[in-house]
Amino acid sequence: MATRLLLFLCLTGHVFAKEPPDVECLVMHLKYIHCSWNKARNPEVNYTFYSWFPNKPPRECPSYLSENSTNTGCKQPYLQDDDRFSDFYTKLVHGNDSYEKKRYLKERVKFNPPTNVTVQYGLDSNLWLNWTQISYGKVESQVRYRINNKPWMKPYYPVRAGIQNYCIILPSSALYELQVQSKLDYTFGGGEESPWSDWSEPVFWGSKNSSTGNQTTELYILG
Ligand SMILES: *[C@@H]1O[C@H](CO)[C@@H](O)[C@H](O)[C@H]1NC(C)=O
Ligand SMILES: *[C@@H]1O[C@H](CO)[C@@H](O)[C@H](O)[C@H]1NC(C)=O
Ligand SMILES: *[C@@H]1O[C@H](CO)[C@@H](O)[C@H](O)[C@H]1NC(C)=O
Ligand SMILES: *[C@@H]1O[C@H](CO)[C@@H](O)[C@H](O)[C@H]1NC(C)=O
Ligand SMILES: *[C@@H]1O[C@H](CO)[C@@H](O)[C@H](O)[C@H]1NC(C)=O
Ligand SMILES: *[C@@H]1O[C@H](CO)[C@@H](O)[C@H](O)[C@H]1NC(C)=O
Ligand SMILES: *[C@@H]1O[C@H](CO)[C@@H](O)[C@H](O)[C@H]1NC(C)=O
Repeated sequence: MATRLLLFLCLTGHVFAKEPPDVECLVMHLKYIHCSWNKARNPEVNYTFYSWFPNKPPRECPSYLSENSTNTGCKQPYLQDDDRFSDFYTKLVHGNDSYEKKRYLKERVKFNPPTNVTVQYGLDSNLWLNWTQISYGKVESQVRYRINNKPWMKPYYPVRAGIQNYCIILPSSALYELQVQSKLDYTFGGGEESPWSDWSEPVFWGSKNSSTGNQTTELYILG
């Protein structure tokens, strides 16, 4: 029994050691490439990480991320300016073991949430949501809002690439909470879609009657 268990442990250990670690990469805000290889499980050895673009020499990772003092990821500047979304190669090396992978960065771009988000009641009696995103034309957005803390209105409102505002026509007198998020334009990305950014910090507009006190309707603008 004991030998059988030992044999089983040896075999499973062997299988795990042979299974190649999977490398996941994201281009963070077109500034960094962030790769990690501990999603399935933490690696047992310190791999050396190389990456390169076509026709460029492999570069070793300049800055490892680690967990429990084992390398689990790599953060490096995104230097590719001309052909931003060409193929990207990665390789993990430990002793004689080496695992190479090719991927399309177009599908792996993640932006920071939009900044400078403002909401303003315009002279046209419409509500304007404006924001700033990285100055790069191929970024689309979507807006969501909810009224008086009710569930978010669905579906969310798409905003074409390059546009950085959204208009709510003739808002009612209520409390509006609005957020916006961005991603690489789908039509440009092709294939699998890039992930959405996180939502921006919420901004508020409108009026809300206090449920406990007796405050009169009060107009306020934040953000
Ligand atoms: C990985 O490298 C770190 C720092 O260089 C070291 O402390 C650690 O023991 C190494 N881990 C393994 C599993 O070799
Ligand atoms: C790191 O080590 C601690 C203590 O040994 C352990 O509890 C934890 O699960 C480890 N974390 C990972 C990601 O392996
Ligand atoms: C690595 O490969 C070389 C040549 O094939 C071999 O001599 C050596 O024993 C191998 N090392 C390990 C740790 O497997
Ligand atoms: C916020 O918007 C102002 C005015 O449009 C602009 O000058 C500023 O650079 C923006 N700030 C950020 C962090 O985007
Ligand atoms: C928001 O965007 C609209 C449309 O471009 C513009 O007319 C308006 O002035 C902007 N508002 C602010 C506060 O930047
Ligand atoms: C606030 O009070 C006014 C007047 O009593 C009412 O018409 C309005 O619907 C209330 N708004 C909300 C958000 O409860
Ligand atoms: C709320 O305010 C109105 C007018 O200001 C007043 O008549 C009423 O008594 C107040 N109600 C409470 C519950 O304080």
